[in-house]
Amino acid sequence: MVQYTDELKEEIRSANDIVDVISQYVSLKRSGRNFFGLCPFHKEKSPSFSVSADRQYFHCFGCHKGGDVFTFVSEIEKVSFKEALELLAERAKIPLPVSENAEFNKTQYLKDKMYKVNAETTLFYHERLYKPLAKIAQDYVKQRKLDNNTLKAFKIGYSGEYNELYKYLKSKGFKDEEILSTGLVNKNDRGEYIDRFRKRLMFPIMDVSGRVIAFGGRKLDNNEKVAKYINSNENLVYSKKKNLFALNLAKQSDSKNIILVEGYMDAISLYQRGFNNVVASLGTALTEEQGRLLRRYCEQVILSYDSDGAGQEAIMRGLTILEDQGCDARVLQMDGAKDPDEYVIKYGSGRFKLLVENAISLVEFKIKMLKNKYNLENSNDKIRFLKEITKILSSVENKIEREIYIDKIAEQYNISKEAIYAEVNKATYNPKTAEKALIKPVVKKEKEVEISPAIIKRENMIIYLLINNFRESYENIVTNIFADDFKLESNKLLFETILNSEVEESDKILQLISNIEDPEIQSHVSEILVTDYEINSVNKCIEDLVNTYNKERLTNRKMEIIQLLENSSSLSKENISELEKELNDIIIELAKRK
Ligand code: CTP
Ligand code: MN
Repeated sequence: MVQYTDELKEEIRSANDIVDVISQYVSLKRSGRNFFGLCPFHKEKSPSFSVSADRQYFHCFGCHKGGDVFTFVSEIEKVSFKEALELLAERAKIPLPVSENAEFNKTQYLKDKMYKVNAETTLFYHERLYKPLAKIAQDYVKQRKLDNNTLKAFKIGYSGEYNELYKYLKSKGFKDEEILSTGLVNKNDRGEYIDRFRKRLMFPIMDVSGRVIAFGGRKLDNNEKVAKYINSNENLVYSKKKNLFALNLAKQSDSKNIILVEGYMDAISLYQRGFNNVVASLGTALTEEQGRLLRRYCEQVILSYDSDGAGQEAIMRGLTILEDQGCDARVLQMDGAKDPDEYVIKYGSGRFKLLVENAISLVEFKIKMLKNKYNLENSNDKIRFLKEITKILSSVENKIEREIYIDKIAEQYNISKEAIYAEVNKATYNPKTAEKALIKPVVKKEKEVEISPAIIKRENMIIYLLINNFRESYENIVTNIFADDFKLESNKLLFETILNSEVEESDKILQLISNIEDPEIQSHVSEILVTDYEINSVNKCIEDLVNTYNKERLTNRKMEIIQLLENSSSLSKENISELEKELNDIIIELAKRK
């Protein structure tokens, strides 16, 4: 893997003005020192998205996203930081270094060719679908009710006979090694080249960025002896467990969730009927990598597996994988059709949408499965059922969530709410944490200490000055204000970072700070940088700040002494008189400063 140097990173940064880059996505208007627009990361009616041309930072005061040009591109294009850097290098036409390693370069070269072979093949298959000789495939897509837009969106195609693809690819100048590496053509014992996919309906599989990495081919007849689907084998560019069919389309959806289905046809069919947020696992159980991938694009995933196909084990595993990634995972309950494709054709997209809305969580799913084991008319069964659901409910840590489940279950299964509460309380009772679990009503986690807006503003200004007017402000600030003065953790960390660095120039400080890989810090920094503090004189401003801190220190000490004197019984006479003198001095000092 190529690692880019900091110098290169800075070269790319300075070649991509943040206002220009963001203007490609957001309509920006200048106002004072900054540019404003509607935030592309959350829905809003009045602009709270701000870009600082001076500092090359953006910040949204609504959703608190913020950062530099790399952060922006990686967030908006939903790519990794490294990919954002590559995109911006390309935008500025800055060549990126290739590795010195010959083996590595050879592999890179081959991969690149394989992507090209796949792209050509996609085109070959797709165009072939529209030719008269493809009548059987045309009839088939008609029968499956796929319209032309859908065929285009997914680049669906029809594969040739014998070695048509091989001949086509050769005519395009690809070498045998490059063609064979993709697995699209195989060489047999007699040394002949034969296409892997023949006379099948072809579904190109794309990666997140839309590059074709593999194919799935469906048979067009009902011949039981041949496999319904043939897929590409894994190769240099294709890893089954790291990709999801149609994610390149779903990632563009505005929807808050992604629907996960099993089959290519389910994803395609739902897409055609208005669900642009569907992906299909590639014929395997959901993997951890796929879970992580999904989490990058949405918070909620709706599992919509075939009603017959996957057993409850597979569903539970899928839900668990997703929950482990921090997703809100749900499972869609479908009756009257074997899979989403059949359902949406039979009952329409409105009904399917309802199913999506009513999808249930892992806990509810477990309870539903449990219920099938018992006859709730029978009171013994009902008691056992209650005991079992108690176990499941006790595992729900969030009390509010638990209460919602209890209410739902009580109603659904006609069990008294009190009975469930009693059981759950018994199960979660632990003398040590009893108070926490039972008596205390759930209140929102108290903020550690309420820090006043004035203090936050004052601290932010110090950081702002250190970043913007480094030379002018540094000495004065660091001799009068200390890390422990900071109440906001982010500010304290920034202050310490600046102090502990050996940095001499303002620009370098920003670089240093932009390398702190913590979204909360970045959001805070961007907020500071895009705020206009209306500072006319840096020196005057620092003087005021230092005064404020000094005064505060004196006032705190004053209060401390008063407290001590109030409980003076344990103090010696000398002590008391010393304190009284100190108090007197402070009062005089404070009076002078007024
Ligand atoms: N699959 C496969 N090989 C098979 C059968 C299935 O790779 N022999 C994978 C495919 O990715 C397929 C998915 O498993 O899309 C789900 O299978 P299935 O439900 O049978 O396919 P559908 O996409 O629903 O196709 P159709 O509606 O045409 O039967
Ligand atoms: Mn199907």
